[in-house]
Amino acid sequence: MFVSNKFLSKRREKGVGQGKVSQSLAMFFLLLASVFVISAAQAEVPNAIPPTVTHSGEDVPQPIEFPHDVHTEENGINCLYCHTYARRSPVAGIPPSSKCMGCHTIIATDKPRIQKLTEYWENNEPILWNKVHDLPDFVHFTHEKHLQRFVFENEGMDVENVSEVCAFCHGDVKKRTVAKKVKPLNMGFCVRCHEANDGPADCWKCHK
Ligand code: HEC
Ligand code: HEC
Ligand code: HEC
Ligand code: HEC
Ligand code: HEC
Repeated sequence: MFVSNKFLSKRREKGVGQGKVSQSLAMFFLLLASVFVISAAQAEVPNAIPPTVTHSGEDVPQPIEFPHDVHTEENGINCLYCHTYARRSPVAGIPPSSKCMGCHTIIATDKPRIQKLTEYWENNEPILWNKVHDLPDFVHFTHEKHLQRFVFENEGMDVENVSEVCAFCHGDVKKRTVAKKVKPLNMGFCVRCHEANDGPADCWKCHK
């Protein structure tokens, strides 16, 4: 099991070095045990202090109600299979209908929502998905840096668990039947996470 070194050493400083050796030793093991319990609950993303604050956004209606839970949790499709660009560009991107039809020319073709999807596809009409997350234009954000830092260049991180990193900023998409915003994504949210994880503090990194 992986425990963030920084976190552990912080706990250690608190527990050890208070005079009586046996007492502080017992204290140390107690703290160590609690560290393992805490880390077991968040073991999916090592070397990260996730933001905890939440936001309660409204359900965002879509031209076709898209069930994330059916695709990700039930059928195990990785977020990056559809949101292909997140790894190497500022935007994550929404998949084109051609990608949907790769499965849905065969899967669930009797379902009304899939028939609607097929209609868009056959009429060559793009699906205009409504935006769920939208920062003001004066803010610079990039998926790439965050995914490199927390997934691809993160020792001990398994790419299979990438959704745990998406969840830092998008919540538990895996369980969702309708898209909505559940993290504030305001300046305080971004800045606090940068402070906690050694991200940049300069104004111009986020405001160009
Ligand atoms: C089968 C393809 C597919 C997979 C797999 C998938 N998504 Fe999506 N995602 C979509 C589509 C289509 C939309 C647009 C409809 C909507 O907002 O529900 C979307 C929308 C989103 C949005 C909102 C975008 C916005 O407008 O702000 C987020 C965030 C998101 N997905 C995250 C994830 C995460 C995290 C995972 C993995 C747990 C994931 N997606 C897996 C297809 C997919
Ligand atoms: C990798 C394969 C795959 C891709 C790609 C895919 N889906 Fe699916 N989709 C599934 C599977 C599997 C189910 C579950 C079918 C079932 O329960 O019968 C499903 C179910 C659905 C449903 C629910 C149907 C219902 O009413 O029960 C909708 C809506 C849907 N998909 C839309 C989409 C859209 C839109 C896209 C493209 C953004 C997409 N899917 C891409 C595999 C896929
Ligand atoms: C550090 C925070 C953060 C993480 C981690 C993150 N996102 Fe995002 N995401 C955002 C923000 C902020 C936006 C809005 C960007 C904008 O409006 O310019 C966004 C927008 C999106 C969108 C809308 C389309 C787009 O590209 O702008 C999708 C889809 C999406 N994210 C999917 C994902 C997926 C999938 C993951 C994990 C692989 C992920 N995000 C990880 C913060 C994050
Ligand atoms: C999970 C914690 C976390 C959250 C939430 C987060 N960031 Fe970051 N961000 C980081 C870390 C860590 C880095 C440094 C990555 C690196 O350089 O390896 C970073 C890097 C960046 C960069 C790249 C700066 C450069 O060097 O070019 C930008 C821009 C950025 N973040 C903007 C944002 C914005 C805007 C938000 C809020 C919408 C946000 N971040 C939310 C952790 C976070
Ligand atoms: C980690 C990214 C990040 C950093 C660093 C950052 N900001 Fe922001 N800032 C944001 C985001 C995101 C918003 C958009 C807030 C919203 O939509 O509610 C914002 C909004 C603002 C606004 C608009 C007013 C408001 O509160 O909505 C001002 C002014 C501002 N920032 C100034 C600064 C200054 C000055 C600094 C340096 C001390 C700074 N920012 C550093 C992310 C950042």
